[in-house]
Amino acid sequence: MLIKKPGDMRYSEITPKALYFDRRRFLAAMPAAFLGARELLSPSARALAAGKFPNLAKSPFSTTEKENSLTDVTHYNNFYEFGTNKDEPSRLARNFKTYPWTVSVEGEVAKPRKFSIDEILKLAPLEERIYRHRCVEAWSIVVPWAGYSLSALLNLAQPTSKARFVAFQSYYNPSEMPEAQHAGIDFPYVEGLRLDEAMHPLALLCVGMYGDALPPQDGAPVRMVLPWKYGFKSVKSIVKIRLVEKMPPNTWNTMQPIEYGFYSNVNPNVDHPRWSQSSEHRLGELRRRPTLMFNGYADQVASLYTGMDLKKNF
Ligand code: MTE
Repeated sequence: MLIKKPGDMRYSEITPKALYFDRRRFLAAMPAAFLGARELLSPSARALAAGKFPNLAKSPFSTTEKENSLTDVTHYNNFYEFGTNKDEPSRLARNFKTYPWTVSVEGEVAKPRKFSIDEILKLAPLEERIYRHRCVEAWSIVVPWAGYSLSALLNLAQPTSKARFVAFQSYYNPSEMPEAQHAGIDFPYVEGLRLDEAMHPLALLCVGMYGDALPPQDGAPVRMVLPWKYGFKSVKSIVKIRLVEKMPPNTWNTMQPIEYGFYSNVNPNVDHPRWSQSSEHRLGELRRRPTLMFNGYADQVASLYTGMDLKKNF
């Protein structure tokens, strides 16, 4: 983003999918073996031990485009808490402790509440959503995420009439994330949405990918996925969701407001000051492909922005 050039690709640490799953199954199965009772594991640990989330419902929002490989998606990451090179989060987040975990939903809500990750996993039926994901750096991927619409969680908290925006905060602990101090951005990583954007059914509260729990480098144990917006809006490893009256700050906008807007909807007609946004590099493809308005989700989300000047409100 600020630091990296667009499209700098490094395919190091390539792990075949089977090997990756086997290693994770092995690690996840360890406590069960020690305890001698799989029932004693948390639901998220059970999902890992089983290797799959059972019964993921299919979603009408899923694209039929070719999915990227698990290797691409888990070894080409932006997670600045764990380094600014694309191959660093897969290595440096390896021991990131994501269980137990709680997410606090607070602010302008009738029912503020802390949700454990086990509660989040059971709060609504998990769906598989195969979404395009377009980074502001002009690379893209297609990922089968698992989760459900954020609105399910927000409705439980009951936003008050004063709630107009939703502010998200990522986990931050400098002792677990020593690389963060070299990242050049402020932490904790924060993001925001207008309430109607957050309530849109496409806005995914995501707990998994490829039928399994999220790996640490992809934002375990729970993150947002907002497929019509540049990837930096999709905040990882969420610990706080606060409903607020005023537009909340978002990390990249605070750092460089001319380059990164609050809305950051994918828009091929508004270039980043330092590079074009008209096309993108889909990981694994040789030729660039044209970037679509709202990343191809215009039919679903364009009405959220009726009457807005999208060049000004970029
Ligand atoms: N969330 C946090 N907490 N820290 C980050 O550095 N990077 C963002 C977003 N969420 C980021 C984050 C950016 S720039 C992108 S493109 C996506 O996560 C990348 O998600 P992925 O690594 O799963 O592809």
